[in-house]
Amino acid sequence: MKNKISARAHTNIALIKYWGKQNKDLIIPYNNSLSLTLDHFYTDTTVTFDDTLTEDTFFLNTKQKKDKKVSAFLDVVRNQAQKNIYAKVESVNHVPTSAGLASSASAYAALALAASQAIGLNLNRRDLSRLARRGSGSASRSIFGGLVEWEKGHNDEDSFAVPMEETIDWDIQMIAIMINSHEKAIDSRSGMQHSVDTSPFYNDWVKSSERDLIDMKKAILEKNLEKVGQIAENNAMKMHATTLSANPSFTYFNPDSIRAMDAIRDLRQEGITCYFTMDAGPNVKIICSKAETPYILKKLSPLFGEKNLLVAKPGPGATLI
Ligand code: DP6
Repeated sequence: MKNKISARAHTNIALIKYWGKQNKDLIIPYNNSLSLTLDHFYTDTTVTFDDTLTEDTFFLNTKQKKDKKVSAFLDVVRNQAQKNIYAKVESVNHVPTSAGLASSASAYAALALAASQAIGLNLNRRDLSRLARRGSGSASRSIFGGLVEWEKGHNDEDSFAVPMEETIDWDIQMIAIMINSHEKAIDSRSGMQHSVDTSPFYNDWVKSSERDLIDMKKAILEKNLEKVGQIAENNAMKMHATTLSANPSFTYFNPDSIRAMDAIRDLRQEGITCYFTMDAGPNVKIICSKAETPYILKKLSPLFGEKNLLVAKPGPGATLI
């Protein structure tokens, strides 16, 4: 048997963050999260299941890599299909080099779709989302386009993402400010676990996110960019507060991230509707309207360089290519 399938998935940025697992093996989160899938950043992955192979191989941007997570994920796929056969995985990340946005979300969503199809499983999108979740939690959301909620559930069966608004007919988009980091960041997996284990604020983060989610869904239904931005910014800072209050403490902010957040607050003082969010790295993402994007770019270019400002519109769900 030799079966080759390619898939594309886009990355997503959470407006209500996922930060902590109640089940580490199955990747079941403590709280629901909600994200916007983006058009600008995506991963293309080709999976070839081949019964002449004696081990899994993985190529990222044409370079061979050792990655235990990829093989462990393929084990989940093999187990579901009840087939014992190795695969060659070839992934290409379409994100600007050094952008630091190469995300496990697009990677595992594309891998889930390509691998499940190549091995002969024909999963519906809910089951694909459950499968992608096993690779990386945020990947469960990248199966869908637009605004997507990951319902935490309690077990493997009921923890999956659902589309909230796949086609966005109102004015919301993002600008990513690329910020160089000289230090190696703590990856999201260990960062969130350390916050769960040691931050005295962790339980409050979960409770507060549940309230934020209710308010966020209302703001989305009202198509109220200002409210969406306010809630997302506040939710992101509460997530980062669990890193500052962890023991030992750590942070994803670097001096340029702080400079970016200040610049966005200054733009707000001028009456521009723009808010920021940050994930497990120093880049700052701005939530804003398409209409005000040219002005924001004009103001931020002298501070961060035009080439470091990337505009991303709402993007589609995972597809075969
Ligand atoms: C800050 O999905 O990368 O981006 O499930 O351990 O692979 P694992 O973590 P991952 O974490 C994403 C964390 C975040 C917030 C979010 O995307 O919701």
